[in-house]
Amino acid sequence: MSKAPQHHKGDPQTTGHNWDGIEEFDNPMPRWWLWTFYACIVWAIGYSIAYPAWPGIKSASAGLLGWSTRADVAREIEAVNEANAAINARLVAADLTQISNDPELNSYAVSAGAAVFKTWCAQCHGAGAAGAKGYPNLLDDDWLWGGDIESIHYTVTHGVRNEDDGDARYSQMPAFGRDDLLSDEEIDQVTNFVMSLSETPMDASLVAAGKVVFEDNCASCHMPDGTGDRTQGAPNLTDAIWLYGGDYDTIKETVTNARFGVMPAWGLRLNEDQIRAAALYVHQLGGGE
Ligand code: HEC
Ligand code: HEC
Repeated sequence: MSKAPQHHKGDPQTTGHNWDGIEEFDNPMPRWWLWTFYACIVWAIGYSIAYPAWPGIKSASAGLLGWSTRADVAREIEAVNEANAAINARLVAADLTQISNDPELNSYAVSAGAAVFKTWCAQCHGAGAAGAKGYPNLLDDDWLWGGDIESIHYTVTHGVRNEDDGDARYSQMPAFGRDDLLSDEEIDQVTNFVMSLSETPMDASLVAAGKVVFEDNCASCHMPDGTGDRTQGAPNLTDAIWLYGGDYDTIKETVTNARFGVMPAWGLRLNEDQIRAAALYVHQLGGGE
C-alpha cells in the first residue's frame, strides 16, 4: 500500500505522474539553462549562414564568410611560392652547367628537385631512383640518352617516345620476330651472342653465327661492339646493366617484339624551375657526367 503523497502549501503543481507514490513537481526550466539553450540556437543559425554547413549534392553551402580549408592551403602555397620566387627566377636564369658552382642555388635546386622527384617521378623510377623493369635506374652511370646535365634536362623536358611533344626523344627498335625480319634460328643465335657480350653464360656454339646476325641487324643502333648509341637511346648491351633483362627469355622477347619505353614530356606539365631542379637532382644522384 502506498501512502498518499503529502502536499504543502506553495508547492508547484505536479506533472500528474505518480510512481508508487512518488510524484513529480512541474518546475519551470531554470532561467540560465533556457537562455543558454536559446543562445545556442541563435549561434547555430548564425554559424550555418556564415560558414560552410548545409550539405548539397556536390559540396556544402559556401557560407557568407567564404572560409574554406582549401583556400587556406592555396594561401599557404602562394606564400611559399612568393618566398621562393627570387631563387626560382635565379634557377631559371642560370646557365645549367654553372649551377653546381653556386652552392646556395645548387643546394636549393637539389632539395626542390627531390620534392619534384617524389611527386612526379618516383612512381616509375622508384622512390630511390633505382628504377624497375623498363624504367631506367637513374643512380648509375649507364645512360640511354646521356648523363650530362643538359642531356638530362632535355630528356626530362621533352620525354621519350610520347606523342605530346614533337621534340620528344625518339627511336624504335624493330620487332624482328613479330615482323618476320629474322627467323627463330637467327633470333636464337643473336640472343646468345648478346649474352656473350656481357659474359652471361650462354650456348657458345651459337655465338659466331649470332655475331653475323648482330652485325647485319643490330650494329647500326647498338654499335658493332654492342656498346650502344645515345643519339638513338640504344642501350649498351655489354655492361650487364639491363633495362628489361639480360636472361635468355627476356632478350629473346626484346628481339622478337621489341620494346617501346615511353616517358611523358614534363615541359608540358611542370614549370621550368621544377624541371631544372629535377634534372639537377637526378644529375647529382651519382651517375651525372
Ligand atoms: C610514366 C613513367 C615515368 C615517369 C613518371 C617518369 N619517367 Fe623518366 N623515364 C621513363 C621511361 C620508360 C624511360 C626510359 C625511356 C627509354 O626506354 O628510353 C625514362 C627515362 C628517363 C631518363 C633518361 C635516362 C637515361 O638513361 O638516359 C631520365 C633522366 C628520366 N627518365 C628522368 C625522369 C624525371 C626527372 C621524372 C620526373 C619529373 C621522370 N623521369 C618521370 C618513365 C617515366
Ligand atoms: C633502330 C635501332 C635498333 C636496332 C636496329 C636494334 N635495336 Fe635493340 N634497342 C634499341 C632501342 C632504342 C632499345 C631500347 C628500347 C626501349 O627502351 O624501349 C633497344 C633495346 C634492346 C635490348 C634491351 C636491353 C636491356 O637493357 O634490356 C636488347 C637486348 C636489344 N635491344 C637487342 C637488339 C638486338 C639483338 C638487335 C638486332 C637483332 C637490336 N637490338 C636491334 C634500338 C635498336
